[in-house]
Amino acid sequence: MGTSQNRRSFLKSTTIAGAAIGLSALQYSRVSGANSRLGIASIGTGGKGWSDLNGVAASPNTEVVALCNIDSSAKHLGQAVEKYPAARQYVDWRNLLDESKDVQGVLVSTPDFMHAPISLAAMHLGKHVFCQKPLTHTVYEARQMQMAAARFNTVTQMCNQIQSHSAYRTAVHMVHAGVIGKVKEVHSWQGGSPRWPRHIPRPQGSDPVPAHARWDLWQGVAPERPYKAEMYHPFNWRGWQAYGTGQLGDFGCHILDPVFKSLKLTSPIKLTVEAPTLLPESWTDRATVHYEFPGTEYTNGPTLRVTWYDAAGALPPREKLGDLPADYALPGAGSVLVGEKGSLVIPHVSMPRLFPEEKFPAKELPVIEGVDHYTQWADACTGNGRTTSHFDYAGPLTETVLLGTIGIRFPEQELVWDAKTLKITNHAKAQEWVTKPYRKGWEPAWI
Ligand SMILES: NC(=O)c1ccc[n+]([C@@H]2O[C@H](COP(=O)([O-])OP(=O)(O)OC[C@H]3O[C@@H](n4cnc5c(N)ncnc54)[C@H](O)[C@@H]3O)[C@@H](O)[C@H]2O)c1
Repeated sequence: MGTSQNRRSFLKSTTIAGAAIGLSALQYSRVSGANSRLGIASIGTGGKGWSDLNGVAASPNTEVVALCNIDSSAKHLGQAVEKYPAARQYVDWRNLLDESKDVQGVLVSTPDFMHAPISLAAMHLGKHVFCQKPLTHTVYEARQMQMAAARFNTVTQMCNQIQSHSAYRTAVHMVHAGVIGKVKEVHSWQGGSPRWPRHIPRPQGSDPVPAHARWDLWQGVAPERPYKAEMYHPFNWRGWQAYGTGQLGDFGCHILDPVFKSLKLTSPIKLTVEAPTLLPESWTDRATVHYEFPGTEYTNGPTLRVTWYDAAGALPPREKLGDLPADYALPGAGSVLVGEKGSLVIPHVSMPRLFPEEKFPAKELPVIEGVDHYTQWADACTGNGRTTSHFDYAGPLTETVLLGTIGIRFPEQELVWDAKTLKITNHAKAQEWVTKPYRKGWEPAWI
């Protein structure tokens, strides 16, 4: 990553760079109604993008008109071309956007570090955006995405799709209905052990780039480095700071989502992280993040402590979780909301549980039906209903998660956050990580 000087120069230059890209974007007018169905473009058609594409295309109101992937092999672009043969094919998303008159909605399913550059460019063109989680790679990008969605009045949805599952919707409903009273503290965890690389030095040397992949385009806004097979593309980019956001970034926007939604949290006011010293380029294999939020109508007291734990086998301290029976095994990932009247366990992903059980007879508890997170967005784009993980919501949630990833760089040091000014007010070095430098010629279209 760049030096302090790079970061400062970057902050000064972004307005100019953004204006340049923004101006060319103005050449495109918003096209709505040109096609009787919502024209969809999918950028990143492999991996999770494959289910994003099929999920949105399941809506009868959509028509897949463009597909983009830097990798033409069967698992990436190939399968999409086979299923949607009439759609135009692209290797470079910038060309797709250049020829996007019949596209009204763009799916962004690339690795994390390309979410904001692609989505911002699409929103500048007035496109509706469905973007994978975490919404962005930096806190600054998350705020820009929220502002862009408002400025260009686009329909947006972050793909933390479990939000729409009956399990999370029921949990949120229970809190809003006052079932556990006001919430006193929250513990959230991911105890899984990911198969992507973490806490290792960058591998030396390079491997030949496969003929079916464009490594230069994959790197996009990131600093250039040699291609290494099985290290970055596909999937394993998660473990590298230049591309992914580590375990907290991978799961925070899922597991913290029902916490945010139910308690109506906005931005933390401070946080402190426990984590081992970070290697220069890879993410850590464990972290505990202590957040403090302003209280809300659903919390007890002026502030609320939310603690995140991730490590192989991580679980929160049992004695802090209220009245759980000794024989109840906590799920491998999830949250516990400790309320005035009882504890709500929200497993990731299954139906919530309430304790002590004798106080909450199962037959009296509500169950809220799930909805379809993908077609909800397609429907909202055509004027039917509203999305629930729009960028006004997903932006602050992602900012919170990514503040945790900044904290991982500065273990045991309290970071005081002023969301209004996007400033870590007590730590100049940490503040530098609110944004990052971009590869020359790839600066995002800031607003
Ligand atoms: N919501 C969920 O449950 C969930 C699950 C898995 C992944 N994800 C998210 O989905 C995104 C993708 O993750 P993944 O595991 O599928 O990664 P992946 O690397 O397996 O797949 C990414 C796909 O995008 C393509 N791609 C990469 N850069 C591109 C570019 N610049 N232009 C066009 N195509 C490009 C790749 O070739 C590949 O087909 C990430 O943001 C990840 O966090 C979300």
